[in-house]
Amino acid sequence: MVREYVALYRKWRPQTFAEVVGQEHILRTLQNALRRGTTSHAYIFAGPRGTGKTTVARILAKAVNCERGPREEPCNECTTCSRIAAGASLDVIEIDAASNRGIDESRELRENVKYSPTDCRKKVYIIDEVHMLTTEAFNALLKTLEDPPEHVLFILATTEPHRIPATISSRCQCFYFHRLPVKAIAGRLKDIAADVGVTGPDEAYLLLARAADGSLRDALSLLDQAVSYGRGELTLAGVRELVGFKRLEIAERALSLCRGGDIGQALAVLAEAYDEGHDPRHLALGLLECLRDALVHTVGAPGGDSHGLGVTDTATLLRALDMVAEVEGRMRWSDQPRILLDVVCLRLAALFGSGLMSPDAEERAPAMEDGEDEDRPESGGGTWEDVAREIAQDSPSLGAILSRCVAEEKDQTLLLRVPSGLQGLIERKRQSLEEAYHRVTGRRVRLRIEARDDEPARPERAEAAESPQGTVERVVDLFGGTIIED
Ligand SMILES: Nc1ncnc2c1ncn2[C@@H]1O[C@H](COP(=O)(O)OP(=O)(O)OP(=O)(O)O)[C@@H](O)[C@H]1O
Ligand SMILES: [Mg+2]
Ligand SMILES: [Zn+2]
Repeated sequence: MVREYVALYRKWRPQTFAEVVGQEHILRTLQNALRRGTTSHAYIFAGPRGTGKTTVARILAKAVNCERGPREEPCNECTTCSRIAAGASLDVIEIDAASNRGIDESRELRENVKYSPTDCRKKVYIIDEVHMLTTEAFNALLKTLEDPPEHVLFILATTEPHRIPATISSRCQCFYFHRLPVKAIAGRLKDIAADVGVTGPDEAYLLLARAADGSLRDALSLLDQAVSYGRGELTLAGVRELVGFKRLEIAERALSLCRGGDIGQALAVLAEAYDEGHDPRHLALGLLECLRDALVHTVGAPGGDSHGLGVTDTATLLRALDMVAEVEGRMRWSDQPRILLDVVCLRLAALFGSGLMSPDAEERAPAMEDGEDEDRPESGGGTWEDVAREIAQDSPSLGAILSRCVAEEKDQTLLLRVPSGLQGLIERKRQSLEEAYHRVTGRRVRLRIEARDDEPARPERAEAAESPQGTVERVVDLFGGTIIED
């Protein structure tokens, strides 16, 4: 296995238009313009996350500036192409409008666009999440777009095009990036996997592709996780488990908020999940899985998991399951699955709050509160895997996630590197985890949570992303039957 770990989705960013998956409607127009020398001075790249906006923007920046061009594909060999690819060109400026630095940079933009490029034909400004710009910054941008200097190319990328003022968008050529088809994603995953020496059944790739819901970036990070999870091997069972976690996590959060009567927050969790590209139908399945696990847990059968829901009353859980199952069925035929899901959450909150539950339904936190023994001698000598194993007894899915974390204890701090995207879940379990760690090892620690494959944005931090793989000694047996097939 590789030592120097680079997340697949970064390593496999296409360097030519030909490598871009899908988005043919955009590439055709752009390449025609490049061929004819009629590229626009401002583009909007709109569309869901992880579908190629930044990727295409960077290829375009190279194609207009290539020393052997402008041409319909960058040569990727000349000094200019190499410099742009390395992020080292002074004339290709990427601004993240959502960050503080981005706000400053857009403020300075109006001044800076005046100056000619230093080593390129055109100065290219790629402004990411452009809808986040302040009014002031938009005004500065507008002034520039009203009278654009010859040597400037703007590429405004956004996941929320409706939030860009019409005064701006009317001055740009607008391209809509599509969610990528499942087959196209699966094909790309398979190619990349083959290239890094991983093979797996076609269904595994299709399942990953479906779970990524149109985002190739998500698909690649899922592939990353699936591969490290299977210790270099891609199995259908492993992928099923992994895909289940994501939606389970969201469902678990939404349900416990409904349970606490915090409907606003529950809807916000769902809204965030939709924005991240989760399919409402999949989320409904997540709700079903959680409720089903909780029901099994309540009746004391194996394979259950309370998911921290704290409902121990079977009648309520059965009602809840019925409600969600009914809506899940209707969602398949509906154009408005999001609304149906939001509504079912409101109904669940009403159900949980209706007093159907037994008064002492408040459940103890899974496995961690009881058995606390202050007198246990220091340094029980347990390892992180022991902690994960103990937790897995009460909450198999949490245990499984924990077994995929890499732990390192130092000066009463436990640095926990968790699979990316799951930090939030772990953070919410912080207290119970710290307690369980104390119980198993006899040592008190404060948890510090970091993403495992959080590759640095800037090359100078590259060492920080070294491989956590190989340190996971043991993968807890996960397949306790908690996932409902879809
Ligand atoms: N159409 C695509 N073809 C090939 N690879 C892609 C495509 N879209 C995304 N990817 C992969 O996903 C990664 C991220 O893509 P990219 O940065 O272009 O997404 P984006 O649309 O800009 O998303 P965001 O809105 O989150 O910034 C790329 O490095 C690449 O590995
Ligand atoms: Mg982007
Ligand atoms: Zn070139």
